[in-house]
Amino acid sequence: METINEGKVRFKSYVGDKISKKLPVFYNPVMKLNRDVSVLLLDSVDKKEMQLALPLAATGIRGIRFLIELKKEKVKFISFNDKSDEAVKLIKGNLKLNKIKSKDKIKIFNLDANNFLLNSKGFDYIDIDPFGSPNFLLDSAVKRIARNGILAVTATDTAALCGSSKNACLRKYWSKALKNEFCHEIGLRILIKKIQEVASQHDKALKPIFSYSKDHYFRIFFHCEKGKKKADEIIKNHGYVLYCKDCLFRETAADVFNSKECPFCNSKLDYAGKLWLGQLWDKKIVTKMNKEAKKTKDKDLIKLMQIITDESKINSVGFYDIAKVVKHNKLKHVPKKELLIKEIKKAKLKVAETHIRPNSIRSDITLKELVKIIRNIN
Ligand SMILES: C[S@@+](CC[C@H](N)C(=O)[O-])C[C@H]1O[C@@H](n2cnc3c(N)ncnc32)[C@H](O)[C@@H]1O
Repeated sequence: METINEGKVRFKSYVGDKISKKLPVFYNPVMKLNRDVSVLLLDSVDKKEMQLALPLAATGIRGIRFLIELKKEKVKFISFNDKSDEAVKLIKGNLKLNKIKSKDKIKIFNLDANNFLLNSKGFDYIDIDPFGSPNFLLDSAVKRIARNGILAVTATDTAALCGSSKNACLRKYWSKALKNEFCHEIGLRILIKKIQEVASQHDKALKPIFSYSKDHYFRIFFHCEKGKKKADEIIKNHGYVLYCKDCLFRETAADVFNSKECPFCNSKLDYAGKLWLGQLWDKKIVTKMNKEAKKTKDKDLIKLMQIITDESKINSVGFYDIAKVVKHNKLKHVPKKELLIKEIKKAKLKVAETHIRPNSIRSDITLKELVKIIRNIN
């Protein structure tokens, strides 16, 4: 057991040579950014006096950071839960270590996460942060998330969602994945679609307000609204991405009944879906989060937030990997990203880096226009 600092919190945790779920209680320092983003988001949404739930709380670090770092008026109470006795002991110890005494703001449970949620009256914020897939907890979470509440979901089974195992994606997420250069965005959008489908069964509409893909995981924050019409509106944004593996042409489509040829090079198009074709971010919330991030002086957080702020202004599904576009379209040289961005802006089109992949650009440009601009730079 070691004493660790994260954010403004000092806490005890088990540390192993390898981050593994075999640790007596799980703590992954790589997920600090995940917790940083959660603090930023909760501070940036227009909500006070929230009732928060951490059904998979482990060391309690996330909840303790919320109690210590969030603006005072944000938290009404936080419920910590973990099925592991060891974890619950550690949560209690860590609350004490951080001198958090106010019993009225904290509740601690030692239950299976589904029982914990279903036995509750509901929450304004539920944070699902599991090992692997969040599937096992989705139904209970959507049942217990309040109107105007926020559901936060992490998934670390990126292999299934990104097309390493096609059957796993069909079986667990009811969609076809694609293993290509923007497979992480496809995976993120398939995960969003699956969670929205689970919610729609309960006439709840989940709109992503902040989503990202990083390291070994996906993370999405949804705003929840109630009503059949609102749920229908969400489902209308589910569709497909058509993709040409030869020239990298892509477009979105409502269906894939008529298998099409690539209009650019005549190869047969492949597809991914169904997936969420709507926005990954709420621009207003992203702007607020970016402002808050700058106050932290945390380089990783500031960088992630700046890139996402820029890319959130562009309405596109997928992005272009510059070197791959050059190779697949038999162009001469790979232009510098900065120069290419400048040239695309000159053509009065929107363009930004993407947080998902280095040396790639998110833009509303068509492949044809992009190839032309690169040819001119060459
Ligand atoms: C990935 S860890 C959570 C990490 C934590 N949220 C954080 O930010 O550090 C997953 C936790 O879920 C707990 N867990 C797994 N399955 C559970 C279940 N069915 N019910 C309750 N807790 C569960 C494990 O004991 C483990 O502590």
